[in-house]
Amino acid sequence: MLSPKSGILSIKPYVGGESQLANVDRIIRLAANESALGPSPLAMAACSDIASLLHRYPDGGSDALRSGLAETFNVDPAKIVCGAGSDELIALLVKAYAGEGDELLYSEHGFLMYKISALACGATPIAAPESNLRTDCQAMLDHVTDKTKLVFLANPNNPTGSYLSQGELEDFHSKLPADVILVIDAAYAEYATASDYEPGIDLVNKSDNVVMLRTFSKAFGLAALRLGWAYSSPEITDILHRVRGPFNVSAVSQAVGVEALKDKAHFNETIRLNNKLLPEFVDFINAIGLKAVPSQGNFVMVDFGKSAVEADAFLRSKGILTRAIAAYGLPNYLRVGIGTEEEMELVKAAFKELAQ
Ligand SMILES: Cc1ncc(COP(=O)(O)O)c(C=O)c1O
Repeated sequence: MLSPKSGILSIKPYVGGESQLANVDRIIRLAANESALGPSPLAMAACSDIASLLHRYPDGGSDALRSGLAETFNVDPAKIVCGAGSDELIALLVKAYAGEGDELLYSEHGFLMYKISALACGATPIAAPESNLRTDCQAMLDHVTDKTKLVFLANPNNPTGSYLSQGELEDFHSKLPADVILVIDAAYAEYATASDYEPGIDLVNKSDNVVMLRTFSKAFGLAALRLGWAYSSPEITDILHRVRGPFNVSAVSQAVGVEALKDKAHFNETIRLNNKLLPEFVDFINAIGLKAVPSQGNFVMVDFGKSAVEADAFLRSKGILTRAIAAYGLPNYLRVGIGTEEEMELVKAAFKELAQ
């Protein structure tokens, strides 16, 4: 019998947010934190324009895309590495820096891919407890050992929606050993509204051991493309280039990504909609006697105070797909993505029925 490297058989394969339901007329998909508005028309046009060039290899350095990102986010293009989704960049970082005998630290309700990527490389995943559904920096520091190679922090976090302020993050970083890499996974940065939030660019600019990860899957509405980017020191950037595939970002992704960055109006509308509908949904949930957890993302956790299995089944019967998050250690909650205005009216009606 062929056996894989140690750790691999301990992986519980990642189960993505569902998209199908039998026996319902209409499905409202709120299980994968996708964009409610969808892709920009400019991005869609770029997708068809590139069709006649599908026989050509992509630009291995994603140069035009890195320039667009540098201009949009005011960062140094030489310190950007693009990837097939931030998932790929998470895996590459772990592959490059951790193996057998090393530890990868994350917070209790952190994104599941950190643990999966650690196990895939034979490293040991270590989860530090959270307090009140929020990363506890002191608990994280207490779990750093001389084996710790990487610390992953989603900010804002999925699925909790909680965040660390720029001050908290800087303080946490200053207490980490210099030879530990801090990965700030800012997949939901574009949605964050807190005035003391910063996605990690400042910290990358002044440190050698920090990586910020970003994605086109959320606020840019391009999850199907698989496109993300890492911003880090020249040293870490060099390492990521060594371990990535030569053409890890498809030509389609690069062309579409460049155009999506140009469509500021579409991006602004995506954010405006979330800024309106998320607080409205939170207020609604609290008003009907359930509890919504404040969120800086494009999703909200609803606390049922008991197992969410029945609520999930009820919502499914109405065609509404939310995310059960027992796999994150949160069996009493459902994570609800923010949909369009019309979708949220239907979702609220279903929750109202549920709460009666
Ligand atoms: C915190 C976090 N990081 C990374 C990802 C992966 O994003 P991508 O689609 O860029 O691989 C997700 C996806 O849901 C996420 O929630």
